Amino acid sequence: MQTALITGASTGIGLALARELARRGWRVALAARRTDLLDEAVAQLTAAGHTAMAVTCDVANAEAVRAAVAQVEAAWGPIDMAVANAGLGDPKPVTEMRLADAEYILRVNFLGMLHLFDAVRPSMLARKSGQFVGVASLAGLRGLPMSAIYSASKAAMQAFLEAARVELKPHGITVTTVNPGFVKTPLTDRNTVSKPFMISAERAAVIVADGLLRGAREVNFPEPTATAMRLVRLLPNWAYDLVVGIGARQLMAPDK
Ligand SMILES: NC(=O)c1ccc[n+]([C@@H]2O[C@H](COP(=O)([O-])OP(=O)(O)OC[C@H]3O[C@@H](n4cnc5c(N)ncnc54)[C@H](OP(=O)(O)O)[C@@H]3O)[C@@H](O)[C@H]2O)c1
Repeated sequence: MQTALITGASTGIGLALARELARRGWRVALAARRTDLLDEAVAQLTAAGHTAMAVTCDVANAEAVRAAVAQVEAAWGPIDMAVANAGLGDPKPVTEMRLADAEYILRVNFLGMLHLFDAVRPSMLARKSGQFVGVASLAGLRGLPMSAIYSASKAAMQAFLEAARVELKPHGITVTTVNPGFVKTPLTDRNTVSKPFMISAERAAVIVADGLLRGAREVNFPEPTATAMRLVRLLPNWAYDLVVGIGARQLMAPDK
């Protein structure tokens, strides 16, 4: 039986992915800070005949992530798939940026992923096998107004994962970047902007699991948003500023 460790698995995409991988026969370790939610999810999975464990862990803390990985390895042996999914965002204009908040978003989204990578890397390299996954975002493909820090954290993830993918292939390690568009979760519930083509966390988990299990380099979804972002990525800067600027000005209008 293969083992997956998923951070940010107390709610949303991480929880749905844990359930989906369990349904497909994986042993799943669910990591996050809210132990009560993790315990509840593990109890449900176990009652359904799956093998799951809860690992309380703050990904902002490298030592805590190392301890979480050690806990899973001690119980089940090597981790076959590590998914850096924990993340947060705080949509606001850069004129209102608070440095401490920005640092925290980067710490959780980007450094949190590096903490996980650092903790699973020795065993994956020694075994010459394993899959490392980062849940970034389509919002990382260009700098999105009103989400500058979030966009930047996800772009940093994408750049790291792309470089690591190439470097680690000869070591037998697969690296996958997951770029969701809008998925209905507590994160999007807190965000009041319009959310075109939003899908459920359960549907997202099926798409992500399909991609991960076929060893995809990238999993971009939902398709309409992913296609739109591919096109937006090709726009020259003047056209990007024009098109995205109109949307941003509407978002920042005083009556919003
Ligand atoms: N939903 C979307 O539309 C969307 C789109 C693109 C990308 N994403 C990305 O998908 C990932 C999951 O987001 P989601 O939508 O499923 O949001 P969510 O339901 O709010 O889940 C976020 C998860 O991250 C965990 N988390 C937050 N800070 C943490 C920390 N310091 N240490 C450990 N765990 C932490 C939370 O658990 P605790 O609070 O219990 O620790 C929770 O389990 C994020 O990286 C997000 O950026 C989401």
